[in-house]
Amino acid sequence: MAGELPITRNPVGAEKAEAIRCAVRLATAMGDSRLARMEDAAGLFALLSDPAVHAPIYTLPRPLTLGSVEDFIDTHFLEREVGIGLLFVREGEGGQILGYSDVQVWPEYGAGELGGALHPSLHGQGSGARGAAASFGWMFETLGLNLLCETAALDNVATQRLLDGLSFRRMGEVMSTRSDGTRRASLVWEMTREEWAGRHGRV
Ligand SMILES: CC(C)(COP(=O)(O)OP(=O)(O)OC[C@H]1O[C@@H](n2cnc3c(N)ncnc32)[C@H](O)[C@@H]1OP(=O)(O)O)[C@@H](O)C(=O)NCCC(=O)NCCS
Repeated sequence: MAGELPITRNPVGAEKAEAIRCAVRLATAMGDSRLARMEDAAGLFALLSDPAVHAPIYTLPRPLTLGSVEDFIDTHFLEREVGIGLLFVREGEGGQILGYSDVQVWPEYGAGELGGALHPSLHGQGSGARGAAASFGWMFETLGLNLLCETAALDNVATQRLLDGLSFRRMGEVMSTRSDGTRRASLVWEMTREEWAGRHGRV
């Protein structure tokens, strides 16, 4: 999670922040995705190994190896215990990992971020936009967040169109740091709970 995010920082009370941490600790599924398990490491590594999946995502481990993917899963176990992060996978028939979602939360600001990817065989058919909309709704409803903050690489047109299409507000540009210390520019978007309710229905 980049240190410059979220752009908008409205501190919430201690009680609200703790309620968000509790909701993170209790989460076991998000839509048709379930919590990642250590046994998913090989399947997740296979999904992430395709550059069409990993290249646009700055939050993935680098170098990408089976061991670093295991560490990535383990880090999310710890983040769930603390109430600040969740890793979900979407499993296809036959057990192939067809997608993953990485939820990161700033409880003190009532804010969160969703990252993730779909298997390339599913790209460009509308399931990314539908799944993201359902996941954003879940983050407001189930985690009780007030704000979502999203990023995309400057050349990641699909994610930019997805976020613009869901009426996220563009908030400028930040530098994002990958796990190996390299940096890349990211466009940033935000959406408040009220804006989401106005656009997409009650939360
Ligand atoms: C980003 C991602 C989840 C989007 O899912 P998707 O199912 O491919 O996207 P959708 O079919 O729902 O399309 C979303 C929008 O992007 C557009 N789009 C999709 N693929 C595109 C492409 N290759 N080039 C340009 N635009 C594209 C669609 O036309 C749509 O925009 P529109 O509603 O204005 O027409 C998916 O492409 C992916 O996993 N990419 C790799 C990882 C990644 O970039 N993750 C996000 C950053 S954390």
